[in-house]
Amino acid sequence: MNLFDVYPLYDIALARAQGSYVWDATGRRYLDLYGGHAVISVGHSHPHYVARLQAQLGLISFYSNAVKMPMQDELATELGRLSGYTDYALFLSNSGAEANENALKMASFHTGRRKLIVFKKSFHGRTSLAVAATDNPSIVAPINATPDVVFLPLNDHAALEAHLDDTFCAVFIEGMQGVGGVQVPTDAFLQLCRSRCTATGTVLILDEVQSGYGRTGNFFAHQHAGIQADIITVAKGMGNGFPIGGTLLSPAFMPKHGMLGTTFGGNYLACAAGLAVLEILENENLMAHAKALGAVLIPELEALPGIKEVRGRGLMIGVELEGSAGPLRKKLLETHGIFTGSSSDPNTLRLLPALNVGQPEIDYLLEALYKELALVRA
Ligand SMILES: Cc1ncc(COP(=O)(O)O)c(C=O)c1O
Repeated sequence: MNLFDVYPLYDIALARAQGSYVWDATGRRYLDLYGGHAVISVGHSHPHYVARLQAQLGLISFYSNAVKMPMQDELATELGRLSGYTDYALFLSNSGAEANENALKMASFHTGRRKLIVFKKSFHGRTSLAVAATDNPSIVAPINATPDVVFLPLNDHAALEAHLDDTFCAVFIEGMQGVGGVQVPTDAFLQLCRSRCTATGTVLILDEVQSGYGRTGNFFAHQHAGIQADIITVAKGMGNGFPIGGTLLSPAFMPKHGMLGTTFGGNYLACAAGLAVLEILENENLMAHAKALGAVLIPELEALPGIKEVRGRGLMIGVELEGSAGPLRKKLLETHGIFTGSSSDPNTLRLLPALNVGQPEIDYLLEALYKELALVRA
Protein backbone atom coordinates (compact mmCIF):
# COMPACT_ATOMS: atom_id res chain seq x y z
CA MET A 1 0.00 0.00 0.00
CA ASN A 2 1.14 3.57 -0.73
CA LEU A 3 0.19 6.74 1.07
CA PHE A 4 -2.67 8.72 -0.44
CA ASP A 5 -0.60 11.53 -1.91
CA VAL A 6 -2.31 14.75 -0.78
CA TYR A 7 0.57 16.63 0.87
CA PRO A 8 3.29 18.57 -0.97
CA LEU A 9 6.18 17.48 1.27
CA TYR A 10 9.62 18.93 2.01
CA ASP A 11 12.34 16.40 1.27
CA ILE A 12 13.12 16.28 5.00
CA ALA A 13 12.46 13.56 7.58
CA LEU A 14 12.71 14.74 11.17
CA ALA A 15 14.27 12.51 13.79
CA ARG A 16 14.16 14.57 17.00
CA ALA A 17 13.24 17.94 18.42
CA GLN A 18 13.98 20.16 21.41
CA GLY A 19 12.64 23.61 22.23
CA SER A 20 12.60 25.68 19.02
CA TYR A 21 14.84 23.27 17.10
CA VAL A 22 14.27 20.09 15.09
CA TRP A 23 16.90 17.75 13.64
CA ASP A 24 16.61 15.67 10.47
CA ALA A 25 17.73 12.08 10.06
CA THR A 26 21.18 13.23 8.85
CA GLY A 27 21.70 15.36 11.98
CA ARG A 28 21.08 18.77 10.35
CA ARG A 29 19.51 21.21 12.78
CA TYR A 30 16.63 23.51 11.78
CA LEU A 31 15.11 26.47 13.60
CA ASP A 32 11.36 25.84 13.79
CA LEU A 33 9.46 29.12 13.52
CA TYR A 34 6.30 27.42 12.29
CA GLY A 35 5.59 24.70 14.86
CA GLY A 36 3.95 22.37 12.34
CA HIS A 37 0.99 24.68 11.57
CA ALA A 38 1.03 26.63 14.88
CA VAL A 39 0.81 23.55 17.06
CA ILE A 40 4.01 23.76 19.10
CA SER A 41 3.09 26.23 21.83
CA VAL A 42 5.46 25.40 24.69
CA GLY A 43 8.38 24.10 22.62
CA HIS A 44 9.23 20.65 21.33
CA SER A 45 9.81 17.94 23.96
CA HIS A 46 9.49 20.34 26.91
CA PRO A 47 10.72 18.33 29.94
CA HIS A 48 7.55 18.96 31.98
CA TYR A 49 5.35 17.97 29.01
CA VAL A 50 7.36 14.78 28.40
CA ALA A 51 7.32 13.83 32.09
CA ARG A 52 3.54 14.42 32.40
CA LEU A 53 2.80 12.25 29.36
CA GLN A 54 5.27 9.53 30.32
CA ALA A 55 3.82 9.31 33.83
CA GLN A 56 0.26 9.12 32.47
CA LEU A 57 1.18 6.43 29.95
CA GLY A 58 2.34 4.23 32.83
CA LEU A 59 -0.98 4.66 34.68
CA ILE A 60 -3.82 4.55 32.15
CA SER A 61 -3.86 5.99 28.63
CA PHE A 62 -7.38 5.36 27.39
CA TYR A 63 -10.90 4.65 28.34
CA SER A 64 -14.00 5.98 26.60
CA ASN A 65 -16.36 8.65 27.92
CA ALA A 66 -18.29 6.04 29.87
CA VAL A 67 -16.45 6.55 33.17
CA LYS A 68 -15.60 9.62 35.26
CA MET A 69 -12.30 11.22 34.29
CA PRO A 70 -11.35 13.80 36.93
CA MET A 71 -8.50 15.00 34.70
CA GLN A 72 -11.13 16.38 32.29
CA ASP A 73 -12.64 18.45 35.12
CA GLU A 74 -9.17 19.61 36.12
CA LEU A 75 -8.41 20.64 32.51
CA ALA A 76 -11.73 22.53 32.23
CA THR A 77 -11.10 24.34 35.54
CA GLU A 78 -7.57 25.35 34.58
CA LEU A 79 -8.60 26.42 31.06
CA GLY A 80 -11.41 28.52 32.54
CA ARG A 81 -9.06 30.10 35.07
CA LEU A 82 -6.27 30.97 32.63
CA SER A 83 -8.59 32.20 29.87
CA GLY A 84 -10.94 34.12 32.18
CA TYR A 85 -13.95 32.11 30.93
CA THR A 86 -14.50 30.53 34.35
CA ASP A 87 -18.26 29.95 34.01
CA TYR A 88 -18.11 28.31 30.54
CA ALA A 89 -18.36 24.54 29.96
CA LEU A 90 -15.87 22.48 27.96
CA PHE A 91 -16.57 19.76 25.40
CA LEU A 92 -13.38 17.89 24.49
CA SER A 93 -12.64 16.47 21.03
CA ASN A 94 -9.56 15.68 18.94
CA SER A 95 -8.97 18.46 16.40
CA GLY A 96 -9.83 21.98 15.33
CA ALA A 97 -12.34 20.87 12.72
CA GLU A 98 -14.21 18.76 15.26
CA ALA A 99 -14.21 21.59 17.80
CA ASN A 100 -15.74 23.83 15.12
CA GLU A 101 -18.23 21.22 13.91
CA ASN A 102 -19.52 20.85 17.48
CA ALA A 103 -19.66 24.64 17.97
CA LEU A 104 -21.77 25.06 14.83
CA LYS A 105 -24.03 22.19 15.79
CA MET A 106 -24.59 23.73 19.26
CA ALA A 107 -25.37 27.16 17.73
CA SER A 108 -27.98 25.51 15.51
CA PHE A 109 -29.47 23.36 18.29
CA HIS A 110 -29.67 26.47 20.49
CA THR A 111 -31.31 28.86 18.00
CA GLY A 112 -33.20 26.40 15.82
CA ARG A 113 -31.69 28.23 12.83
CA ARG A 114 -29.33 26.99 10.08
CA LYS A 115 -27.80 29.99 8.28
CA LEU A 116 -24.26 31.10 9.01
CA ILE A 117 -22.16 34.25 8.44
CA VAL A 118 -18.44 33.69 7.87
CA PHE A 119 -15.66 35.80 6.35
CA LYS A 120 -13.56 35.93 3.20
CA LYS A 121 -10.12 34.23 3.55
CA SER A 122 -11.47 32.10 6.42
CA PHE A 123 -10.17 28.61 7.25
CA HIS A 124 -12.15 26.52 9.73
CA GLY A 125 -11.18 22.93 8.88
CA ARG A 126 -12.12 20.10 6.57
CA THR A 127 -15.11 18.34 8.13
CA SER A 128 -18.49 18.93 6.55
CA LEU A 129 -19.68 22.26 7.96
CA ALA A 130 -16.21 23.52 8.88
CA VAL A 131 -15.13 23.19 5.26
CA ALA A 132 -18.38 24.75 4.01
CA ALA A 133 -17.46 27.73 6.20
CA THR A 134 -13.95 27.84 4.70
CA ASP A 135 -13.25 30.30 1.88
CA ASN A 136 -11.55 27.83 -0.48
CA PRO A 137 -13.90 26.23 -3.05
CA SER A 138 -11.18 23.77 -4.15
CA ILE A 139 -11.48 21.82 -0.87
CA VAL A 140 -15.30 21.92 -0.63
CA ALA A 141 -16.79 18.72 -2.13
CA PRO A 142 -20.26 18.94 -3.67
CA ILE A 143 -21.63 17.01 -0.68
CA ASN A 144 -20.30 19.70 1.70
CA ALA A 145 -21.46 22.78 -0.19
CA THR A 146 -24.47 24.56 1.26
CA PRO A 147 -26.25 27.81 0.37
CA ASP A 148 -26.72 28.44 4.10
CA VAL A 149 -23.22 29.89 4.45
CA VAL A 150 -22.81 33.59 3.58
CA PHE A 151 -19.26 34.93 3.10
CA LEU A 152 -18.72 38.62 3.94
CA PRO A 153 -15.55 40.72 3.70
CA LEU A 154 -13.66 40.92 7.01
CA ASN A 155 -13.90 44.27 8.82
CA ASP A 156 -16.76 45.46 6.58
CA HIS A 157 -19.22 47.03 9.03
CA ALA A 158 -21.80 47.91 6.38
CA ALA A 159 -21.87 44.35 4.97
CA LEU A 160 -22.39 42.83 8.42
CA GLU A 161 -25.14 45.33 9.28
CA ALA A 162 -26.84 44.69 5.92
CA HIS A 163 -26.82 40.88 6.15
CA LEU A 164 -27.13 39.89 9.81
CA ASP A 165 -30.73 39.51 10.90
CA ASP A 166 -32.56 37.04 13.13
CA THR A 167 -32.41 34.19 10.59
CA PHE A 168 -28.75 33.22 11.26
CA CYS A 169 -27.67 30.70 13.89
CA ALA A 170 -24.13 32.09 14.16
CA VAL A 171 -21.47 34.56 13.14
CA PHE A 172 -18.31 32.46 12.91
CA ILE A 173 -14.99 34.29 12.92
CA GLU A 174 -11.32 33.53 13.59
CA GLY A 175 -9.78 35.51 16.48
CA MET A 176 -7.11 36.32 13.93
CA GLN A 177 -7.19 34.65 10.49
CA GLY A 178 -4.24 32.28 10.15
CA VAL A 179 -4.32 30.36 6.88
CA GLY A 180 -5.71 33.51 5.18
CA GLY A 181 -2.34 35.21 5.77
CA VAL A 182 -2.72 36.62 9.29
CA GLN A 183 -5.61 38.99 8.64
CA VAL A 184 -6.59 40.82 11.81
CA PRO A 185 -10.21 41.68 12.64
CA THR A 186 -10.24 45.19 14.10
CA ASP A 187 -11.39 45.65 17.68
CA ALA A 188 -14.28 47.77 16.38
CA PHE A 189 -15.38 45.00 13.99
CA LEU A 190 -15.34 42.34 16.72
CA GLN A 191 -17.30 44.71 18.96
CA LEU A 192 -19.85 45.18 16.16
CA CYS A 193 -20.11 41.39 15.70
CA ARG A 194 -20.77 41.11 19.43
CA SER A 195 -23.45 43.80 19.57
CA ARG A 196 -25.24 42.69 16.36
CA CYS A 197 -25.25 39.05 17.52
CA THR A 198 -26.74 40.06 20.86
CA ALA A 199 -29.38 42.19 19.14
CA THR A 200 -30.44 39.43 16.71
CA GLY A 201 -30.18 36.44 19.05
CA THR A 202 -27.30 35.06 16.96
CA VAL A 203 -24.50 32.99 18.51
CA LEU A 204 -21.02 34.56 18.23
CA ILE A 205 -18.48 31.78 17.70
CA LEU A 206 -14.78 32.64 17.91
CA ASP A 207 -12.47 30.16 16.21
CA GLU A 208 -9.31 30.42 18.32
CA VAL A 209 -7.89 27.14 17.02
CA GLN A 210 -4.79 28.92 15.71
CA SER A 211 -4.88 32.31 17.46
CA GLY A 212 -5.69 31.04 20.96
CA TYR A 213 -3.63 29.65 23.84
CA GLY A 214 -1.58 32.79 24.38
CA ARG A 215 -0.24 33.08 20.84
CA THR A 216 -1.18 36.76 20.43
CA GLY A 217 -0.16 37.74 23.98
CA ASN A 218 -3.67 37.34 25.45
CA PHE A 219 -5.14 33.91 26.09
CA PHE A 220 -7.56 34.48 23.18
CA ALA A 221 -7.02 36.94 20.33
CA HIS A 222 -10.59 38.29 20.59
CA GLN A 223 -9.86 39.41 24.16
CA HIS A 224 -7.79 42.29 22.72
CA ALA A 225 -11.17 43.74 21.62
CA GLY A 226 -12.61 43.40 25.14
CA ILE A 227 -15.50 41.19 24.00
CA GLN A 228 -16.82 37.82 25.16
CA ALA A 229 -17.81 35.13 22.67
CA ASP A 230 -20.74 32.75 23.19
CA ILE A 231 -18.69 29.78 21.97
CA ILE A 232 -14.91 29.53 21.56
CA THR A 233 -13.03 26.73 19.81
CA VAL A 234 -9.47 25.61 20.54
CA ALA A 235 -7.04 22.92 19.33
CA LYS A 236 -3.49 23.28 17.88
CA GLY A 237 -1.47 24.81 20.77
CA MET A 238 -3.76 23.17 23.33
CA GLY A 239 -1.84 19.88 23.27
CA ASN A 240 1.57 20.99 21.88
CA GLY A 241 1.30 18.16 19.34
CA PHE A 242 -0.94 15.70 21.14
CA PRO A 243 -4.29 15.68 19.26
CA ILE A 244 -6.89 17.50 21.32
CA GLY A 245 -9.62 20.07 20.61
CA GLY A 246 -12.15 21.88 22.73
CA THR A 247 -15.45 23.73 22.40
CA LEU A 248 -16.05 26.25 25.21
CA LEU A 249 -19.74 27.01 25.72
CA SER A 250 -21.37 29.85 27.67
CA PRO A 251 -23.81 28.97 30.46
CA ALA A 252 -26.67 29.75 28.03
CA PHE A 253 -26.07 26.37 26.34
CA MET A 254 -27.87 23.53 28.09
CA PRO A 255 -26.34 20.07 27.73
CA LYS A 256 -28.45 16.97 27.14
CA HIS A 257 -27.07 13.44 27.34
CA GLY A 258 -26.13 12.19 23.90
CA MET A 259 -26.26 15.66 22.29
CA LEU A 260 -22.52 15.59 21.49
CA GLY A 261 -20.06 12.72 21.75
CA THR A 262 -16.72 11.24 20.70
CA THR A 263 -14.79 8.05 21.31
CA PHE A 264 -11.29 9.46 21.72
CA GLY A 265 -11.98 13.05 22.85
CA GLY A 266 -10.73 13.89 26.35
CA ASN A 267 -8.74 10.71 26.85
CA TYR A 268 -6.20 10.55 29.68
CA LEU A 269 -3.14 11.25 27.51
CA ALA A 270 -4.85 14.22 25.83
CA CYS A 271 -5.74 15.64 29.25
CA ALA A 272 -2.19 15.13 30.50
CA ALA A 273 -0.87 17.00 27.44
CA GLY A 274 -3.48 19.75 27.85
CA LEU A 275 -2.70 20.21 31.55
CA ALA A 276 1.05 20.21 30.94
CA VAL A 277 0.64 22.99 28.35
CA LEU A 278 -1.40 25.16 30.71
CA GLU A 279 1.06 24.58 33.56
CA ILE A 280 4.01 25.60 31.36
CA LEU A 281 2.15 28.62 29.94
CA GLU A 282 1.50 29.88 33.46
CA ASN A 283 4.75 28.89 35.20
CA GLU A 284 6.95 30.33 32.46
CA ASN A 285 4.79 33.42 31.91
CA LEU A 286 4.65 32.67 28.19
CA MET A 287 1.76 34.96 27.27
CA ALA A 288 3.67 38.01 28.51
CA HIS A 289 6.80 36.71 26.74
CA ALA A 290 4.89 36.33 23.45
CA LYS A 291 3.43 39.82 23.79
CA ALA A 292 6.80 41.44 24.55
CA LEU A 293 8.73 39.58 21.85
CA GLY A 294 6.09 40.34 19.20
CA ALA A 295 6.06 44.04 20.12
CA VAL A 296 9.79 44.22 19.36
CA LEU A 297 9.87 41.82 16.41
CA ILE A 298 7.03 43.33 14.36
CA PRO A 299 8.66 46.79 13.93
CA GLU A 300 11.99 45.09 13.17
CA LEU A 301 10.34 43.07 10.40
CA GLU A 302 8.65 46.22 9.07
CA ALA A 303 12.06 47.90 8.76
CA LEU A 304 13.48 45.16 6.47
CA PRO A 305 13.83 45.87 2.73
CA GLY A 306 11.12 44.55 0.36
CA ILE A 307 8.40 44.24 3.01
CA LYS A 308 4.94 45.45 2.05
CA GLU A 309 3.14 44.86 5.35
CA VAL A 310 3.58 43.03 8.63
CA ARG A 311 0.36 41.89 10.30
CA GLY A 312 -0.36 40.24 13.61
CA ARG A 313 0.14 40.41 17.34
CA GLY A 314 2.42 38.59 19.75
CA LEU A 315 3.91 35.53 18.04
CA MET A 316 1.32 35.18 15.26
CA ILE A 317 2.84 37.22 12.47
CA GLY A 318 2.22 37.49 8.74
CA VAL A 319 4.96 39.07 6.65
CA GLU A 320 3.70 40.27 3.27
CA LEU A 321 6.38 40.81 0.64
CA GLU A 322 6.16 42.92 -2.48
CA GLY A 323 6.27 39.66 -4.53
CA SER A 324 5.87 35.93 -3.99
CA ALA A 325 7.01 34.64 -0.60
CA GLY A 326 7.79 31.16 -1.99
CA PRO A 327 11.41 31.77 -3.07
CA LEU A 328 12.27 33.47 0.24
CA ARG A 329 10.78 30.64 2.29
CA LYS A 330 12.81 28.14 0.22
CA LYS A 331 16.03 30.13 0.83
CA LEU A 332 15.29 30.41 4.54
CA LEU A 333 14.85 26.66 4.76
CA GLU A 334 17.63 25.47 2.46
CA THR A 335 20.34 28.06 3.18
CA HIS A 336 19.58 29.09 6.76
CA GLY A 337 17.71 26.03 8.08
CA ILE A 338 14.61 27.98 9.16
CA PHE A 339 11.06 26.62 8.90
CA THR A 340 8.41 29.26 8.20
CA GLY A 341 4.81 28.87 7.04
CA SER A 342 2.97 29.72 3.84
CA SER A 343 -0.59 31.04 3.64
CA SER A 344 -3.40 31.24 1.13
CA ASP A 345 -1.96 34.64 0.14
CA PRO A 346 1.08 33.73 -2.01
CA ASN A 347 2.96 36.89 -0.96
CA THR A 348 2.62 36.28 2.79
CA LEU A 349 4.74 34.03 4.98
CA ARG A 350 3.66 33.13 8.49
CA LEU A 351 5.77 33.09 11.65
CA LEU A 352 4.28 30.93 14.40
CA PRO A 353 7.16 30.03 16.71
CA ALA A 354 6.87 28.31 20.07
CA LEU A 355 5.80 30.87 22.68
CA ASN A 356 9.09 30.36 24.55
CA VAL A 357 11.30 31.07 21.52
CA GLY A 358 14.32 33.13 22.58
CA GLN A 359 15.89 36.38 21.43
CA PRO A 360 18.91 34.57 19.81
CA GLU A 361 16.51 32.65 17.54
CA ILE A 362 14.69 35.87 16.59
CA ASP A 363 18.04 37.59 15.89
CA TYR A 364 19.08 34.67 13.66
CA LEU A 365 15.82 34.99 11.70
CA LEU A 366 16.21 38.77 11.27
CA GLU A 367 19.80 38.33 10.07
CA ALA A 368 18.78 35.66 7.54
CA LEU A 369 15.84 37.74 6.31
CA TYR A 370 18.03 40.81 5.97
CA LYS A 371 20.63 38.89 3.96
CA GLU A 372 18.09 37.38 1.57
CA LEU A 373 15.94 40.49 1.13
CA ALA A 374 18.97 42.77 0.61
CA LEU A 375 20.29 40.28 -2.02
CA VAL A 376 16.99 40.48 -3.92
CA ARG A 377 17.21 44.30 -3.87
CA ALA A 378 20.87 44.40 -5.02
C1 LIG B 1 -8.45 28.76 12.48
C2 LIG B 1 -8.46 27.29 12.23
N1 LIG B 1 -9.58 26.59 12.51
C3 LIG B 1 -9.64 25.25 12.32
C4 LIG B 1 -8.57 24.55 11.81
C5 LIG B 1 -8.68 23.07 11.61
O1 LIG B 1 -7.93 22.41 12.58
P1 LIG B 1 -7.57 20.84 12.39
O2 LIG B 1 -6.61 20.75 11.25
O3 LIG B 1 -6.99 20.45 13.72
O4 LIG B 1 -8.86 20.13 12.11
C6 LIG B 1 -7.39 25.24 11.50
C7 LIG B 1 -6.23 24.52 10.94
O5 LIG B 1 -5.34 25.10 10.35
C8 LIG B 1 -7.33 26.64 11.70
O6 LIG B 1 -6.24 27.34 11.40
